[in-house]
Amino acid sequence: MDRPVLAFCVPKFAGDSWRAAMAEHAPHVVFRNRFEGFGDPALVRYAIAWNPPPGELAQFPNLACIFSLGAGVDGILADPTFPRTVPLSRVVDPDLTQGMTQYVLLHVMLHHRKQRAFDSFQRERLWKPLTAGPAGDVRVGIMGTGVLGMDAARKLRDLGYAVSGWNASRKSEPGMTFFAGMGELSAFLAETNILVCLLPLTDATRHIIRAETLRHLPKGAFFINAARGGHVNEDDLLAALDSGQLAGAALDVFETEPLPVTSRLWSHPHVTVTPHVASQSNPKTIAALIGESIRRVERGEAPLNPVDFLRGY
Ligand code: NAP
Ligand code: GLV
Repeated sequence: MDRPVLAFCVPKFAGDSWRAAMAEHAPHVVFRNRFEGFGDPALVRYAIAWNPPPGELAQFPNLACIFSLGAGVDGILADPTFPRTVPLSRVVDPDLTQGMTQYVLLHVMLHHRKQRAFDSFQRERLWKPLTAGPAGDVRVGIMGTGVLGMDAARKLRDLGYAVSGWNASRKSEPGMTFFAGMGELSAFLAETNILVCLLPLTDATRHIIRAETLRHLPKGAFFINAARGGHVNEDDLLAALDSGQLAGAALDVFETEPLPVTSRLWSHPHVTVTPHVASQSNPKTIAALIGESIRRVERGEAPLNPVDFLRGY
């Protein structure tokens, strides 16, 4: 009998580390990428996907499960031919969560502790103490306290920050304040000194960071985007930075990636740019999760962390 094929549908990437990790965690499955050719489409039972070209997944008639290479699935669901009868499993991995929490805490603390100012003083050999103030006076508002946002929120709370969360549904967690839905967005923003975006990108959240939302923040707030560039209207963001409505921003994701060399975000004095590395998928840990999902699917069960197609996350 033919062995099931797992198609690696990730542009410009052969996925050698994923091949090795999958050989360990699902040895009965044949790993194929587009460079060597996927072979007979009818034999493809599984796919690992990240921003696949439109139509690529739809060419496989016998898919049993699709695995996102990351936590976000917007780049997969953007394909209008995506086969919505096939379960889509996303990444929920402690390593990915830990990486994101590090990124968020790093930028919250660089801002709160005024480290960028001290860096510039050092270049001038300037001995100039500034006061950061207690963490409890810094209100960190996290848009999307899901898997990633809640971990960061808990660690920020444990460091003494005043943490709040904004979600679609009402959540609760000791020592935090929660807001829910569009009706409470402005109240959430009004209480936020450092705004962190960790939402999934869906029709409901596209360009949620725009002039009319930024104006609800207290003047001089700081913005951290580790979710998707599509959450932000970059012209409005630049205007808020130029006017001082925002004191600064740490941006890991952009409307166009790689960030075009012509973008003013590269050179803005109050912007820190990283190239979509806030948290990177680890093939070793994620292949173990995919192997477990494959076993579940083969038993007729749902995979781990299935995406709700109606919500889009
Ligand atoms: P998740 O567990 O699905 O959490 C999503 C959260 O967003 C939930 O709390 C959800 O609220 C909330 N939400 C969704 N739609 C909303 C809306 N319309 N209004 C208000 N709240 C809404 O997702 P996750 O695993 O934490 O990942 C979040 C995102 O991080 C991913 O989608 C991805 O884009 C991004 N990411 C980026 C990187 C990077 O390196 N930059 C790495 C990993 C992930 P409810 O629970 O109430 O529905
Ligand atoms: C990375 O961007 C992810 O969604 O995991």
